[in-house]
Amino acid sequence: MINYKDLGLVNTKEMFAKAIKGGYAIPAFNFNNMEQLQAIIKASSETKSPVILQVSKGARNYANQTLLRYMAEGAVQYAKELGCEHPEIVLHLDHGDSFELCKSCIDMGFSSVMIDGSQLPYDENVALTKKVVDYAHQFDVSVEGELGVLAGVEDEVVAEHHTYTRPEEVVDFVTKTGCDSLAISIGTSHGAYKFKPEQCHKDPKTGRLIPPPLAFDVLDGVMKELPGFPIVLHGSSSVPQEEVDTINKYGGKLEAAVGIPEEELRKAAKSAVCKINIDSDSRLAMTAAVRKVFAEKPAEFDPRKYLGPARDNMEKLYKHKILNVLGSNDKLAN
Ligand code: G3H
Ligand code: 13P
Ligand code: ZN
Repeated sequence: MINYKDLGLVNTKEMFAKAIKGGYAIPAFNFNNMEQLQAIIKASSETKSPVILQVSKGARNYANQTLLRYMAEGAVQYAKELGCEHPEIVLHLDHGDSFELCKSCIDMGFSSVMIDGSQLPYDENVALTKKVVDYAHQFDVSVEGELGVLAGVEDEVVAEHHTYTRPEEVVDFVTKTGCDSLAISIGTSHGAYKFKPEQCHKDPKTGRLIPPPLAFDVLDGVMKELPGFPIVLHGSSSVPQEEVDTINKYGGKLEAAVGIPEEELRKAAKSAVCKINIDSDSRLAMTAAVRKVFAEKPAEFDPRKYLGPARDNMEKLYKHKILNVLGSNDKLAN
């Protein structure tokens, strides 16, 4: 049993309380490789932002769970080396789908876990979430639960349609489970294709697809029922069109990829939404940079020559999110 506190990590409790009070949101960036992690830590350290490092079940399978945990431990030291005397870094399990998986992460040093019972019948979601909370809280580990279903592809979970969170259920869920934060469904979804073209309209100036607005009335309903309770938004990539264009220009084929407009995320970050999950945008930034090097320098075969630019492009993206969308910069105590 390794306790996250011995690794220099923190849980989400104080971080979320401060974020709600301060009207900003903490970035929750997924990682499964070294370049992503370097870019996340560089961006968050240089902007003095707290950060949540997210590991999905798929990432654990891809990169090896032990290696990822040691990478997160190394990230704390790297942040210090970059001049952050008191980094605030959470190591979080994204979309945990069983008690056993959550327990295994807690036992190896994660400071936060999500138990995603959103696809289960309500009572089963409550029972599973409570079981994880009861275990996690013995070690001061935070737990995120979820109510409502996001459309799109999650780790080994595919949902065809959204089911918005029902504000009338949230008090009962939070009271019965004791979870520390709640992921809700208000129209975001996972991946780079968040809306079908027929759901969007075209911007007459740019020809770009403009998606329908998020269900802020549902968020308002949840906040009314649970004043000051930490809310989480999954599926919050904006799918930057410059990155999509670069990918397509250099041989990619991403058609009609569309994300959540940044203005909507800015608005959410100012509310009780205090954790915003971003994965797809980082994948796009990485792929765009790699494709560009491959197209422009076909003789190049040193991985550092294409993974380096990929890392730089991700760092730029993470900094942009922190500074211009979530507002989590300059929040560390030093
Ligand atoms: O919510 C899903 C995350 O983007 C993780 O994706 O399961 O492919 O690692 P993944
Ligand atoms: P995106 O696919 O929008 O980046 O969402 C990521 C996410 O919600 C991870 O849990
Ligand atoms: Zn998610």
